[in-house]
Amino acid sequence: ETKYITVDAGQPDEEAMQIAADLIAAGELVAFPTETVYGLGGNALDPTASARIYAAKGRPSDNPLIVHIAEYSDLLRVGKQVPEDAKKLADAFWPGPLTMIVQKSDEVPYATTGGLDTVAVRMPNHAVALELIKRSGCLIAAPSANTSGRPSPTEGAHVREDLSGKIAMILDAGPVGIGIESTIIDLTEDTPMVLRPGYITPAMLSKVLGKEVIIDPGIIAADDTRKPKAPGMKYKHYAPKGNLVLVEGATEAVIAEINRRTSRNRIEGKRTIVIATEETKSRYEADTVLSIGEREDEESIARHLYGILRTCDSLNAQEIYSESFATPKMGQAIMNRLLKAAGHEVIRVSE
Ligand code: TXA
Ligand code: MG
Repeated sequence: ETKYITVDAGQPDEEAMQIAADLIAAGELVAFPTETVYGLGGNALDPTASARIYAAKGRPSDNPLIVHIAEYSDLLRVGKQVPEDAKKLADAFWPGPLTMIVQKSDEVPYATTGGLDTVAVRMPNHAVALELIKRSGCLIAAPSANTSGRPSPTEGAHVREDLSGKIAMILDAGPVGIGIESTIIDLTEDTPMVLRPGYITPAMLSKVLGKEVIIDPGIIAADDTRKPKAPGMKYKHYAPKGNLVLVEGATEAVIAEINRRTSRNRIEGKRTIVIATEETKSRYEADTVLSIGEREDEESIARHLYGILRTCDSLNAQEIYSESFATPKMGQAIMNRLLKAAGHEVIRVSE
């Protein structure tokens, strides 16, 4: 049976943290909050613990895990030939939603890196996560704490839905702050490359490094012609059970198109859900309209995205229409997740 304990996000209960830390040190799995999404943690240097993570998630074993650390010096322990750029980025963004890929040291088992000679490392900005790492005396390998193929969990209840009965413990510290996974930057080539967009944008990275940062062409392509460099980015992630379609264009035209499709679905007896914003939610005719946040506040959109996709599943939506969110800063990260959830099904409307 899975222990489920609620802790304070700022000052987690010591006794609860000790139980969790002992489980990690014993090779068991504990789900815990970070500032991005909930992670499913196990001892990163223990191949058996890593194998348990893959089994609990139903995750393909060629998809590497991120090693979570609480001290900068541990980057030098799990990494080899760590470049100067890593130090600059750590100074600017750690603890925080940035994962860096470097060459791995011999201490890191291939079971954790999915057989790769590189390792993904991140220092999370969350008191519970940092305390769990320190107290356990381990470095913690943690993918998002969802069943493979489901949206990443942004609340303890999401983790329970997916992993209850499959792991030793869940630490619930309430909803996360950011809501989408960390930015991943690969520092193993001459030019740093973003493999997964997130809260930290290429512009922010490039400013700190004082040089160009490129984006993996494989994550921008709308088809399968280019392979993304992060193994996890190639899977059809985050897909709700219903058919999700993104509708792009001028606001009025988008509303009209979605309403037209909604009435057609009603005649055909298909259950429709619309993903709208605070600004537009009253304009839709579907029985269920979910507001993802304010268009003006892209952080609110990121925070609610995965929870809304889960709600679409629990309400058994058959057809889901979503507005598009090419917002200024995090827009790329948000659209990357939404496009994948939609299997790149996009309708562009014009007046
Ligand atoms: O925000 C986050 O990063 C969350 C929290 C829990 O920290 N974790 C997370 O882990 O999103 P996961 O396993 O769901 O995603 C890790 C991604 C995958 O796409 C994986 O393929 C990629 O990182 N990755 C890990 N190691 C890699 C490596 N050595 N080279 C390239 N990609 C790597
Ligand atoms: Mg994941």
